[in-house]
Amino acid sequence: MDKSQANIRIRELRAIIDEANRKYYVDNAPELTDYEFDMLLKELEVLEKAYPEYLTPDSPTQKVGSDIKISAKKDFDQYPHRYPMLSLGNTYDISEVQAFADRVSKGIGNAFTFSCELKFDGTAICLTYRNGRLFRALTRGDGTKGDDVTRNVVHISNIPQTLTVPAGFVPSKEKPYPWPEEFEIRGEIYMPWAAFDRLNEERYKDEEQPFANPRNAASGSLKLQDSTLVANRGLECTLYHMLGESLPFQTHDQALKAASQWGLPVSDKRRICSGIEEIEDFITYWDTERKNLPFATDGIVIKVNELPYQTELGYTAKAPRWATAYKFKAEKALTRLLSIDYQVGRTGAVTPVANLEPVQLSGTVVKRASLHNSEQMQQLDIHIGDYVYVEKGGEIIPKITAVELSMRPDDASLPHFPLYCPDCGSALVKDEQEAKSFCPNQDGCPTQIQARLVHFLSRKAMNVIAGDATVEQLYNKALVWNIADFYELTKDHLMTLDGWKERSAERFLNSLKDSVNIPFERVLYALGIRHVGEATAKSIAGHFGSIDNLAAAGMDELLKVEDIGEIIAESIVEYFSNPDNLEIISRLKSAGLQFESQGVKEPHSDRLAGLTIVISGNFSISRDKMKELIILNGGKSSGSVSGKTSYLLAGEKAGPEKLKKAENLGVKVITEEEFFRLIGSSADEDMNSVNTEDDNVQLSLF
Ligand code: IVH
Repeated sequence: MDKSQANIRIRELRAIIDEANRKYYVDNAPELTDYEFDMLLKELEVLEKAYPEYLTPDSPTQKVGSDIKISAKKDFDQYPHRYPMLSLGNTYDISEVQAFADRVSKGIGNAFTFSCELKFDGTAICLTYRNGRLFRALTRGDGTKGDDVTRNVVHISNIPQTLTVPAGFVPSKEKPYPWPEEFEIRGEIYMPWAAFDRLNEERYKDEEQPFANPRNAASGSLKLQDSTLVANRGLECTLYHMLGESLPFQTHDQALKAASQWGLPVSDKRRICSGIEEIEDFITYWDTERKNLPFATDGIVIKVNELPYQTELGYTAKAPRWATAYKFKAEKALTRLLSIDYQVGRTGAVTPVANLEPVQLSGTVVKRASLHNSEQMQQLDIHIGDYVYVEKGGEIIPKITAVELSMRPDDASLPHFPLYCPDCGSALVKDEQEAKSFCPNQDGCPTQIQARLVHFLSRKAMNVIAGDATVEQLYNKALVWNIADFYELTKDHLMTLDGWKERSAERFLNSLKDSVNIPFERVLYALGIRHVGEATAKSIAGHFGSIDNLAAAGMDELLKVEDIGEIIAESIVEYFSNPDNLEIISRLKSAGLQFESQGVKEPHSDRLAGLTIVISGNFSISRDKMKELIILNGGKSSGSVSGKTSYLLAGEKAGPEKLKKAENLGVKVITEEEFFRLIGSSADEDMNSVNTEDDNVQLSLF
């Protein structure tokens, strides 16, 4: 490669790596495997070494990947790190660990030891404790400043908010507490496999994109806007690096032991090693044993144990010279593909699921694996009877990553993706955007209907005590066809079901009765609108405040909601444009279900009762707030001018088309002042009662 070719490749590698870093750290949806990423970074390092004239300080070899979201709206406050938060050098090659050991040994020149630890596959966290209390938790961010996630970290059960004085500690005037007045301790927030599988299972049921791996799930969960959701994510923390001004320790091991005595979570899977042989033993042991751990590890970290030597060796721009990581290759298992099921989900998506000869992988026995879609089946050239490699990655169940062609049996047969719904026989429709096949028979396909009914009753939705079997019974007896039918069931109906007695019928009906108090956000989730999972339902409910506001919203307004993109917005618009859905909602409203966010005020007045108002243009308050006022005063807010419109409320730069239509239809156009006169108020007066200091405050807040 000549100099100009090297320059081109360097630029190309930087662009690929920067994008991969963004996908990994910000979107939590990596597109490259760790190994692929590390190999690209290595290639860039080699080229920059050979052509130092092309080395720039902003090269990804010189800085850590940033987890800070670049957007106008900051999700978290940011604070500078007292000490830069760096990365670690890494290798997949044991001879490079040997080279590291030799290098530090030469640098130190005296006897010293290594601390070998697990490399936890999570997201880095920096905790500051002041006077024994958790003061702040920052993410790594860009290494110099991080996001303040304290409000989320307090929901992680093994992170103490106050430290514990160990038994036997004798306080003195000079040392009233065992810990320094202020110190930082860094570590990893991770999601154990069990919590990860549970979360992805829920996301899978909700047809939300599952997390690619526990690391992404941990990082995504740590950055949730709604802190109360963090508590349910099962996150854990392990701490591995203490920092502070003149800490009273000689070794890293002493510091971690002390931290553990103060109640901080520190792993006991550590070993002090005196040379490369012991390091290799530790690596070999954990390369096998990691498969039995309840959480993911992606390698081993090897650190110089003596703190003065760490200081002596110091840091490069990106990583300490006193530590390195040996990384394990992704865990794989080879097993036989027995058959493929084609499963129809709640929204009609047909997913191929592989049935495998049971095999042990990452501590669990794997019997099923995801194949995503027909494209992936073709790409893999998969045959029934093939030996396939499975990896535990993103999906609720592991995925098949490759076929071992050399082991293909003679009688292996090519599977055919069905053209018709395996349940109702409707011709499947291909959604090119999502590369998925759908059964379009939403209202007639028994699997889809029952899956929607089950979803509606489920714990996180309406929390009604009933499962798949009850739904199947009710459906087969034609007692329930859609979700509104549940609320018309009587004891007599239920007593006709096999095995049902008066008591079970009463329990079920009482549970349904209780469900009318379930808050709006969960009712919204229960409706089963495609792509509207639990978190999305929560932000939509917060933004719109009521189902009527949501139903009236167009694409533009929906896209303003945090976390809503085109696909979700389109799905919502489509849902509300279906008259069957509107009828179901109307019946559920009559049954008393919550279709407004709690805390929405009773109407200020009924001065706008019976009036439909369309708003257009800009006002002294936000358009959302204008709409709230219409609703709070008993009116209806609508998106477009029609014969049913009572007023067009026109602000500055009102849409000329709306004005024209109003004129043609004889709809009265009113100004902001006239509107406030109508409700007997002024903008200031009225908003004082519904506003806070934040102009973007959402409906659910008042
Ligand atoms: S020590 C100055 N120890 O791996 C660097 N890091 O890929 C101190 N990690 O940024 C880091 N387990 O987030 C250290 N036992 C461990 C670790 C560990 C996981 C993470 C850490 C680091 C990343 C580098």
